[in-house]
Amino acid sequence: MLTDNFGRKFEYLRLSITDVCNFRCDYCLPDGYQCGSSRDFLSMLEIKTLVSAFAELGTKKIRITGGEPSLRKDLPDIIEFCAHTPGIERVALTTNGYKLERDIQTWRDAGLTHLNVSVDSIDPRAFESITGSKQLTSILDGIDKATALGLQEVKLNAVLLKDYTPQQLDAFFKYIKSRPISIRFIELMETGDNAEYFEKNHLSGAFIQTQLFSRGWIEEPRDALAGPAKVYKHPDYAGSIGLIMPYAKDFCNTCNRLRVSALGKLHLCLFAEQGISLRQSLISGDIEATTRVLQNAMGIKKLSHELHERFTGATTHLAMLGG
Ligand code: GTP
Ligand code: 5AD
Ligand code: SF4
Repeated sequence: MLTDNFGRKFEYLRLSITDVCNFRCDYCLPDGYQCGSSRDFLSMLEIKTLVSAFAELGTKKIRITGGEPSLRKDLPDIIEFCAHTPGIERVALTTNGYKLERDIQTWRDAGLTHLNVSVDSIDPRAFESITGSKQLTSILDGIDKATALGLQEVKLNAVLLKDYTPQQLDAFFKYIKSRPISIRFIELMETGDNAEYFEKNHLSGAFIQTQLFSRGWIEEPRDALAGPAKVYKHPDYAGSIGLIMPYAKDFCNTCNRLRVSALGKLHLCLFAEQGISLRQSLISGDIEATTRVLQNAMGIKKLSHELHERFTGATTHLAMLGG
């Protein structure tokens, strides 16, 4: 079992398989960031070694992220390998939904159990203005298809944006009235290169909390493999609302996940800049050596991120680490 000095257990791996993305969400990929389509991303063999090592150390859930993970042709093979690895109980995917409608059946057949799709607005014009994509209808159809296929959980991620979310709130509530989908509102995080955007657009999760309480929504207990969201339910709605508030006090106390970037670096926190390279043991296919590096790294995991401090030119890209 991977355990840190603060007694936190890590059974959840977020694995980024590429930093390439075909969307340009305002808050994520500002023009300056060069995605590396020619970069040396983890190969299928390296991914197998990595997943086997994590599973040996008690990992039960793997979330595949990007960039946009569906841009990798071997995504179904990656899902399948994770799903067939002893110990792995949940195989999850975070996607922008670009290939969802077309490929969800294949991903489901390969063993996908959980799906998160980024949909910052369900108004096509607002969606296009945030992401640069005209594909909202197909993405929403893909979400309905995923629900019909009986995935264990389908979630829709919406980053909280001052100029967009308040106007869309009623539409979001209506959307989950009869759909068993969780909408998660995510507080915009400041990364090294979105400071100006952050100042202009950040909207606190407290805004949503006030709305939820006044409409009779009630907080649910959290399950051990869950992500960082607080979840709320209402008897009149088939769906639920999640709130991810990284700026809230004690957000990191329940941290249960580790990250590996598409270039094979272990990041002990979303905001841990440096990363510890696992590449040498992965290239040689050495599962035992990989488990040793992972175990040794646990001793240096910090208690909390440093989001409350000001960034000083650091450039953590959520696109590289998959959030
Ligand atoms: P699940 O409960 O497994 O669905 O996890 P999740 O909500 O973490 O998954 P998803 O990939 O959909 O991420 C949603 C948002 O949460 C993204 O903006 C992530 O960057 C953010 N997030 C996830 N984990 C962490 C974390 O450990 N720290 C911070 N600050 N943000 C996180
Ligand atoms: N702050 C909050 N969420 C972000 N995401 C990407 N960048 C940020 C940011 N700066 C979200 C995406 C996606 C998830 C993987 O991370 O919208 O839903
Ligand atoms: Fe692409 Fe996701 Fe970043 Fe949007 S948030 S640009 S979909 S990686």
